[in-house]
Amino acid sequence: MKILVLNGSPKGKQSITMQYVHYLEYQFPEHSFNIQHISHRVQELSQNQTEWDALMSQVQEADGILWAFPVYFLLVPSQYKRWIELVQSRNATNLFAGKYTASFSTSAHFYDHTAHAYIQGICEDWEMQYINFFSADMMDLLHSQTRRQWLSFAKEFFYCITQSMPTLKCKLLLGYIALALCSQRLI
Ligand SMILES: Cc1cc2nc3c(=O)[nH]c(=O)nc-3n(C[C@H](O)[C@H](O)[C@H](O)COP(=O)(O)O)c2cc1C
Repeated sequence: MKILVLNGSPKGKQSITMQYVHYLEYQFPEHSFNIQHISHRVQELSQNQTEWDALMSQVQEADGILWAFPVYFLLVPSQYKRWIELVQSRNATNLFAGKYTASFSTSAHFYDHTAHAYIQGICEDWEMQYINFFSADMMDLLHSQTRRQWLSFAKEFFYCITQSMPTLKCKLLLGYIALALCSQRLI
């Protein structure tokens, strides 16, 4: 399976977040991981049409897309956000529609949930099939228990893609909950 990894760390190859992805590469040699250093290259991507087009064709070819980013200042790094805005302003979101996706972060667990909620919202706006998120501490790779959890998260991601599993949109779920509460006259 072809997994496109959107690296959100401006550190590029030196990123801690990418060490977790390299661990997956090592553990799942049957899958190909195409790591794109989005944040590190955002200026080049915004100015060079050839590079932009090459990235967009890799999006089209991917079986699954993994958003892999560090949490910086309670959210994703600004370079990542800039790239997301470029995809939207260049009307390229249709290339992402229907793609299976998941998000992964490393952080000190300070407002990591806001970053994942933001990425999930973007995935739903772009009509992607969002499966789940995994939020690791920056040192978790050193612990066998979290390494196991990370592997089983990845296995679930691959399984959902191969089985074309249905996904539930968070905004729909919230709508259903509100409807249920209204019908019970609880709100
Ligand atoms: C400028 C900066 C801001 C950060 N802000 C947060 C934050 O708001 N919440 C948090 O939990 N960790 C924060 N961190 C810690 C990073 O998320 C963590 O070190 C991460 O693993 C770095 O990944 P990277 O090497 O892939 O960039 C911050 C780190 C830096 C350098």
